[in-house]
Amino acid sequence: PPAPPCVLVIFGATGDLTHRLLTPALYNLERSGLLAPDFAIVGVGRSDMSADALRQDLHEGLQRYAAGKQGPNGPLQVDEDAWKRLTADLDYLAGDLNDPQTYVRLGERIAASRGGKGAEGGVLYYLAVAPSLFEPIIEGLHSAGLTRQEGEAWRRVIIEKPFGHDLASAQALNRKVLSLLGEDQVFRIDHFLGKETVQNIMAFRFGNGLFEPVWNRDHIDHVQITVAETVGVEKRGAFYDAAGALRDMVPNHLVQLFTLTAMEPPSSFQADAVRNRKQDVLLATKPLSPEEVVRDVVRGQYQAGEIAGEPRAAYRGEPNVAQDSRTETYVAMRLMIDNWRWAGVPFFLRTGKALARRTTEIAIQFKHAPLALFQGVGMERCPGNWLVIQIQPDEGISLQFGAKVPGPRLRLEPVQMQFSYVDHFQAQPGTGYETLIYDAMTGDQTLFQRADNIESAWELVEPILEAWRDPAAPLSPYPAGSSGPEQAEALLGNHGRRWRPILPR
Ligand code: BG6
Repeated sequence: PPAPPCVLVIFGATGDLTHRLLTPALYNLERSGLLAPDFAIVGVGRSDMSADALRQDLHEGLQRYAAGKQGPNGPLQVDEDAWKRLTADLDYLAGDLNDPQTYVRLGERIAASRGGKGAEGGVLYYLAVAPSLFEPIIEGLHSAGLTRQEGEAWRRVIIEKPFGHDLASAQALNRKVLSLLGEDQVFRIDHFLGKETVQNIMAFRFGNGLFEPVWNRDHIDHVQITVAETVGVEKRGAFYDAAGALRDMVPNHLVQLFTLTAMEPPSSFQADAVRNRKQDVLLATKPLSPEEVVRDVVRGQYQAGEIAGEPRAAYRGEPNVAQDSRTETYVAMRLMIDNWRWAGVPFFLRTGKALARRTTEIAIQFKHAPLALFQGVGMERCPGNWLVIQIQPDEGISLQFGAKVPGPRLRLEPVQMQFSYVDHFQAQPGTGYETLIYDAMTGDQTLFQRADNIESAWELVEPILEAWRDPAAPLSPYPAGSSGPEQAEALLGNHGRRWRPILPR
């Protein structure tokens, strides 16, 4: 059913996120009939411009999005009728977000929208802005009375990442936010949770009777979670050089994949039932000791190299990156979960930029058969059973097992059983923001992070941040276009395992 009547207020309406992702997501929601018929948008930004200019500007963003998507007859065309419906009630307010007056004027614009009924229904504030503006905006909204809610006139805030830059700052931000809003009003986004394939981890595990009985230490040898990217830092050098791969990817996206893989079955799909089970995993994950950080965490930075035949400059040569930067563009680590299901099963996590191939996957290696009956006839080439949940691209799930090669001699070879999203559903994945925006409008927090989830995730990486403050902490180089630093291979080697290779396409 369509979401309830609502005004969406976008802070950062002229920014990159709004163009690249929010507008296409809203457009996709409109096309699927999931927005209320009198849905309204109020954009807020610093630049002086008219609502028409914003409409034009966003339309260009949408055209770029469509041009990048292949339909059956070439690149997709924008459905102009849907676009007109979506932006029929679009307003724009220019203002200084640190000025209380801006929020007074915003209140008037909200009230005037939806034919004068704007304040009577829901209002969703989307903070698509730099994190330094999160607090001023929430304070401004609160002081102007724009966060007070009653009945159908709900008021909710979507907060983009990064939510803090370490544990202390995340705690401080939570304290501030929760002094002005109820937890039920706060939607902390992690866009990985908007991905179909990420949501499917729960469907796969808990919607089938087959996998859960073997999803534990008795049958699983270890788990590898990889988020490999071929992109470098593009135009984000200034942000990235201060953040690094650990902060940028681990306490959010990798932790989501990790907790969804490791969590106990929730008793329902109510938001807190799910978030409690994810929280259990984080609480059971042993914080790394300083010795473990040295042994079980690898920090890398890319050097010049070549990706898909194109030369790639070293990280230190990227725009707005310090020439002697020690910021990591790669991180790998081992985590252990102290509970009955996972005791003794290592979870290896890695993520990096400028790697050989873009791939996000969760790979589960099952234990070997108890008796090596097929030794010497190929089984040494079958590295056990792998179940691979391919998050992106080539979304799907595959299971590898050993099969007999046809012929009179007994020989085994690894083969794959494969499910592919495009083959089966013939559906292109959306931006991932569709579900999240719709859920925020309907008040479903299942796919959003609760305050304690965020803080526990930061707690997990805190010892690593601490260890890396030491200027002598090692930084391992790797060539752009490779599968990461050699030290990452050694990390698994020390534990008798090997990474699945990240091979160029
Ligand atoms: C963002 C990070 O949160 O996620 C980026 O800041 C990263 O550095 C991106 O590239 C990856 O997201 P996706 O959806 O492209 O896999």
